Amino acid sequence: MSKKNEVSFFDGKGLRNDGRRLDELRPIELEVGVLDNASGSALIRQGGNRILVGVFGPREIHPKHLALPNRATLRCRYHMAPFSVEDRKHPAPSRRETEISKVIREALEPVVFTEYYPRTTIDVYIEVLEANGGTRCSGITAASLALADAGVPMRDLVVACASGKVGGKIVLDLNDFEDKYGEADMPVAILPHLDRVLLLQMDGNLTPKEFHEALDLAIEGSKRIYEMQKKALRDSYPIPDEPQEEEVVEVEK
Ligand code: CDP
Repeated sequence: MSKKNEVSFFDGKGLRNDGRRLDELRPIELEVGVLDNASGSALIRQGGNRILVGVFGPREIHPKHLALPNRATLRCRYHMAPFSVEDRKHPAPSRRETEISKVIREALEPVVFTEYYPRTTIDVYIEVLEANGGTRCSGITAASLALADAGVPMRDLVVACASGKVGGKIVLDLNDFEDKYGEADMPVAILPHLDRVLLLQMDGNLTPKEFHEALDLAIEGSKRIYEMQKKALRDSYPIPDEPQEEEVVEVEK
């Protein structure tokens, strides 16, 4: 019997191992402007994930030969702290981190108006402090908030969420256990306003019907997170109340 068949994903009531329904997101908290030294920053907590993002720039690029004459260079670094997982993670960048940094850059780049800042760089540092599945998606969600906090012009916020298949059912926002032992995990990043998919990866197997169901679920879940992103920005940059018109008091002569 394979390992996948030994584990149980649902309790007697059909709820998942962390008490969620199939289409329920993990609890999410978003905070913007958490670092003084960065141009923009954001912190996301999504279930057991805790990820801090710092954005620097647009600023002068070093080494200078990397400067592009017609646009800014977007550089992304996804890094897991050695204490972010149960077994100590080697601090040096792994192949997995290099791959995730690349796919995150590819998800963010089409959204940023890099052409406004030729010959500069925009550096995005994604530091995973605690990991519990779906960190590339949480990282993307926080990175686009940090870019907005840095005042970098963008077409829209990018938002990401995974869906997948565990115990034969399509579920939203997999945790680490579901990610490791489930049948499939599919991270998706979208540009909600323009209905464009910016990242689509899949680890595992789904039938075409399951794929469409999982994609629709990931998009629907991402749109829920998008509302939270907008609220986090609004809370960080409250719009001042409209100035009240001064009351004119007529003085009788
Ligand atoms: O985090 P995400 O699902 O985007 O990426 P993954 O490569 O599918 O990794 C799944 C999970 O495995 C991560 O979120 C971590 O919780 C865990 N992991 C780990 O325990 N140790 C590592 N060195 C790398 C990942």
